[in-house]
Amino acid sequence: MKYFLILTFLVSSILFGCSAFKGLRKADLIEGKDKNTYESFGKKYMISTQGEATTKAARFVFEKGGNIFDAATAASFAISVERPHSTGIGGGGFMLIHHEKSNHKEAYDFREMAPRMAHKGMFLDANGKQIKEKSLTGPFASGTPGLVAGVLEVHKQYGKLPLEVVMEPAIKMAEMGFKIYPALEVATKAKAKKLCSYPSSKKIFLNEDCTARKAGTILYQKDLALTLRKIAKEGLSGFYEGDVAKKIVASQKKYKGLMTLKDLKNYKVKKREPVVGTYRGYKILSMPPPSSGGTHIVQILNILENFDLKGFGAQSAKSIHLTSSAMQIAFADRAEYMGDSDFKNVPVDTLISKKYAKRLANKIPHARALSSKDFPVSMSKIMREPEHTTHFTIMDGEGNVVTSTQTINGWFGSSLVAEGTGIVMNNEMDDFASHVGGVNLFGAIGGKNNLVEPRKRPLSSMSPTIVYNKEDKPFLALGTPSGTRILTCVMQTLLNVLEYDMGLWDAVAATRYHHQWKPEEIRIGPPFFDKDVEAELKAMGHKINHKALGCKIQAIMKNSDGNLHGVSDPREEGMSFGI
Ligand code: DON
Repeated sequence: MKYFLILTFLVSSILFGCSAFKGLRKADLIEGKDKNTYESFGKKYMISTQGEATTKAARFVFEKGGNIFDAATAASFAISVERPHSTGIGGGGFMLIHHEKSNHKEAYDFREMAPRMAHKGMFLDANGKQIKEKSLTGPFASGTPGLVAGVLEVHKQYGKLPLEVVMEPAIKMAEMGFKIYPALEVATKAKAKKLCSYPSSKKIFLNEDCTARKAGTILYQKDLALTLRKIAKEGLSGFYEGDVAKKIVASQKKYKGLMTLKDLKNYKVKKREPVVGTYRGYKILSMPPPSSGGTHIVQILNILENFDLKGFGAQSAKSIHLTSSAMQIAFADRAEYMGDSDFKNVPVDTLISKKYAKRLANKIPHARALSSKDFPVSMSKIMREPEHTTHFTIMDGEGNVVTSTQTINGWFGSSLVAEGTGIVMNNEMDDFASHVGGVNLFGAIGGKNNLVEPRKRPLSSMSPTIVYNKEDKPFLALGTPSGTRILTCVMQTLLNVLEYDMGLWDAVAATRYHHQWKPEEIRIGPPFFDKDVEAELKAMGHKINHKALGCKIQAIMKNSDGNLHGVSDPREEGMSFGI
């Protein structure tokens, strides 16, 4: 035993410099969680999602003879039911796919769109001051939902089983109910007051006295089941036209919102070219605008390619300093340039160029924290608590990949359920800049390219990502929820694999950190770093904030022997399963 411990120490010292590796070990997992559900190995297929029932829904579809795209459709609808506080058919998302046979690499954008009547000043008062609640709660908070259109489009292109079959697990779950789990109770508690102000929302999620339903009791979503049945039967028009659409619009009208039948009918999915970058010869594909995610992941990695991070050690103060400084720079650029590229000229090519990255790398002092004074814009704003969203990744043995982040934005989105539909409407309008310098739920600073315009998509950080090996075959796919932290969490997991040679469990479970330019601090999540590492960072002038980042990576890696290895972040609910 003694020799084993010494050997472990020596190996980790060699791998990670002198400090011990900090990350979640299976043995540390919260009591009551089934430790084996977070990791799985298989050859035929692998599913990593944030919900047990969702992973089982995708498995059901594979067992029925469906393909990976049927499984992704099943997972999308199932997670909408299982995590109604995080995502749903009242929201939107992105899906990155690799279709092996055709070699198609496609980024599906089903992000919400601002209603036609939305306008630049809609979240400002008469004095030009941001009315924070207006973009967060109630009818104005919602963009026209895109999730149903996006998922059905992918299914139409590549699925082979009928919709009725792939949607069955979701419909059954909504109809027959499921046990409320602790994280759902926490989210409901946090939003109980807001949910209580809408009878249509209260009826589903709260007790008579407006308290949150307790974990362990059953959540029924009967209206949602009916809506899902309609979609399964009628397809797109079951949601965007007819009864369901009319009910969504009626609920908007009741509270004086802007969304109309025309907005719903004219919702458009966009098939986009993924952002492409490389890191040490590995090709990385991720989400282009209206997400900022892919662009900044590539930008940060490009900056970091200029340093010998591995030589410094994975969790050394020097690597953390350089990495968080690169994040800081990228977020300053995010505020300055990013928005919906259908509306604004977003300089993605420059942002992801190696030349630009080299110039930025030269700006990072090796032993001193950058200050916001080093950047052209200077503001200090406060970051709020993590909210929610969801991610799943699926791979099969034939080389196909689907990786998708889906959301209604904050917990329970706008808190408004469209009466009679069970649909929780999103609050994605908060991802727009209310004005230049405005701050959203995640503390991200808004720029001119991201102001509200009719039919524009709000800027996102969601970053479904696929990495290709040197034979140009996909070997790693991943994503996560958690607002602006999405792109830095995905980027760090990539670094952990591509730079530091970690196995997938360690890469996902490792301590993560985040810098987003404003506030001027490195936010470090549990289980944090060694005290001496933090002391070194402080000596360089970094402020440290110990606060969970909220990311829950869902990742799959294809090992060189062809085995698929799935890991669901052990930080919350999740389940990886494969055979
Ligand atoms: O699109 C975005 O970047 C945000 N609306 C995502 C929200 C989110 O991840 C909330 N999760 N914690």
